Amino acid sequence: MIVVTGATGTVGSKIVAGLRERGQQVRALVRDTAAVPAGWDAGVEAVAADFADPASLDAALAGAEVVYLLVAVHPEMAEHEQNVIDAAVRTGRLPRIVLHAAAGVDQRPEGVRFVAAHVAGFDHLVKSGLPWTVLAPNGFYQNFLGMTEDLKAGRLLLPGGTGAVSYVDARDVADAAVAVLTGAGHEGAVYTLTGPQGLDHGRIAEQLGGVVGTPVAYTAVDPRDALAGMLGAGWPAWRAEGLVELYGLYAAGLASEVSADVEALTGRPARSFAEFAAEHAAALRGADAS
Ligand SMILES: NC(=O)c1ccc[n+]([C@@H]2O[C@H](COP(=O)([O-])OP(=O)(O)OC[C@H]3O[C@@H](n4cnc5c(N)ncnc54)[C@H](OP(=O)(O)O)[C@@H]3O)[C@@H](O)[C@H]2O)c1
Repeated sequence: MIVVTGATGTVGSKIVAGLRERGQQVRALVRDTAAVPAGWDAGVEAVAADFADPASLDAALAGAEVVYLLVAVHPEMAEHEQNVIDAAVRTGRLPRIVLHAAAGVDQRPEGVRFVAAHVAGFDHLVKSGLPWTVLAPNGFYQNFLGMTEDLKAGRLLLPGGTGAVSYVDARDVADAAVAVLTGAGHEGAVYTLTGPQGLDHGRIAEQLGGVVGTPVAYTAVDPRDALAGMLGAGWPAWRAEGLVELYGLYAAGLASEVSADVEALTGRPARSFAEFAAEHAAALRGADAS
């Protein structure tokens, strides 16, 4: 039995769909079984559990052979990863854990809390004695779908400096995950998942402008102004500070490296940002919510 956590989210929902396309039975961990996605068929068993509730995780992981461990960005995300790993140990069946982390998890950059949380989860996993694989994706192309208001106004405002980032399509992350979950020989591997090229945010703005129909100009926002803006808009401080830290990594050029792991795992090249933008033109224009 393959158990997928974070199953209703950006990546997890695509993993569930990909596993079903391969005829796999899936147990999907959800918080609310009354709100499961409409597309799930009888091959998906939705089980209610919460990363903060170990007893619920014990029930959700019973009988698991493989677990896709994806937690949401949250101040306690490191503990959440550790809770799932501990519950997997308690099953007594040594399930294989595929940890969804973030690019850089193997380089352990200082002062980037989102990555640090995954480093803590990774260390806990290695100590657990469970067989493991780590997927370490770079930032998702899909993040730009949340920037439609700025794009409509012809601007991309981010504290990303001039550094290039090898963003990746969340669909490629999911396809790579399905290959690892259903294949053999991945134990002890850390796969870094990126797109086919590093692009700075000026180039990204140009490509976005090309599909939304109005030129989009990138402004490299001062990190202090970006933080003040997010806090002013009501963002929780932990998350806003974390994003500024992450964009600091981008600005320093530390997220620009291109990996061949998507192609090695899926057997086809990673999708380019241009392909993603063209396919999501309507959503990027704010014309629909897909
Ligand atoms: N965004 C990026 O660019 C990026 C890049 C690299 C790595 N990552 C990593 O990717 C992960 C996020 O993936 P995503 O964007 O696919 O996630 P997402 O769309 O935010 O979805 C989060 C999932 O976690 C579930 N969830 C939230 N809190 C939970 C809890 N307390 N107990 C059980 N389930 C809970 C949600 O379920 P509900 O339906 O119940 O809300 C949902 O299925 C993070 O670990 C992040 O560090 C993100």
